[in-house]
Amino acid sequence: MLRNRDTSYGLVAITIHWTIAALFVGQMLLGLAPRWTHSMALQFTLIQWHKSFGFLILALAALRLAWALLNKWPRRPVAIERGEWLAAKTVQGSLYALMLVVPLTGWALVSTSTLDVPSFAFNMVVIPDLPMARSEATEDFWRVTHQWLAYATAVIATGHMLAALRHEFWLGDGVLKRMWPARRDERSGDQTKRRHTAARR
Ligand code: HEM
Repeated sequence: MLRNRDTSYGLVAITIHWTIAALFVGQMLLGLAPRWTHSMALQFTLIQWHKSFGFLILALAALRLAWALLNKWPRRPVAIERGEWLAAKTVQGSLYALMLVVPLTGWALVSTSTLDVPSFAFNMVVIPDLPMARSEATEDFWRVTHQWLAYATAVIATGHMLAALRHEFWLGDGVLKRMWPARRDERSGDQTKRRHTAARR
C-alpha cells in the first residue's frame, strides 16, 4: 500500500520517515565532527558531506510535506486520548517544519559566510548560495541559529521517539506499527477481508 489509509501510513510516507530519521542522526554527527579534528582538510571534507546530506534532507522533507498534503492522514487510534493526540500532532508538525528550516538555516550560513566556499552536493553538482549579503555578523547570526535549531530538533525528535517506544513496549497498543511496513499476513488479512466484503455486496 503506497498511500496512507485510515489506520496506517503508506509505504511512501513510511520510507521517507525512516530515511529522514536515519539521515538526521548521521547529520548531527557530521555537523559536530569538525570539532573533533584539527585537520583543516578533514574539516573541509566533513562540512562538504554535511552540506550534501543537509540538501538531501531538505529535498526529502519537501517531498514528504507534498506527499502528506496529497494524502489522507490516518485517523486517531482509539488507544490515544484527544489531548495526547493533539500534543503528538503538534510535535510531528514542528518536526516537519524543522526538517525544512534547519537545512535552510545551514544554507543561509554558508551563503553569508565571508569564507565564500562553494557547496558541492556529493561532489557532483554545485549548489548555488542563496542571494544574501556576506558579512561576519550575519554569518555568526545564521551559525548560532543553525546550531540551536539543530539541537532543539534533536531534543524534540528524541521525545517523539521515546513516546513511540512507550506506546509499543509499555502500552503495547500498536501505535508504532502505523509507521512500519505491514507484514505479509496483515496485508493478506486485509485483502481477504476486502474480498469477503466485495463478495457480500
Ligand atoms: C537537517 C539538516 C541539518 C542538521 C540536523 C544540521 C546540524 C548541524 C549541527 C549539529 C552542527 C554543529 C553545531 C555545533 O558545532 O555546535 C552543524 C554545523 C554546520 N552546518 Fe549543519 N545541519 C543541517 C544541514 C545543513 C546544511 C543544509 C548546511 C549548508 C548547506 C549546513 C551547514 C553547516 C555548517 C557550515 C556548519 C559548521 C558551522 C561552524 O561551526 O562553523 N548544515 N549543523
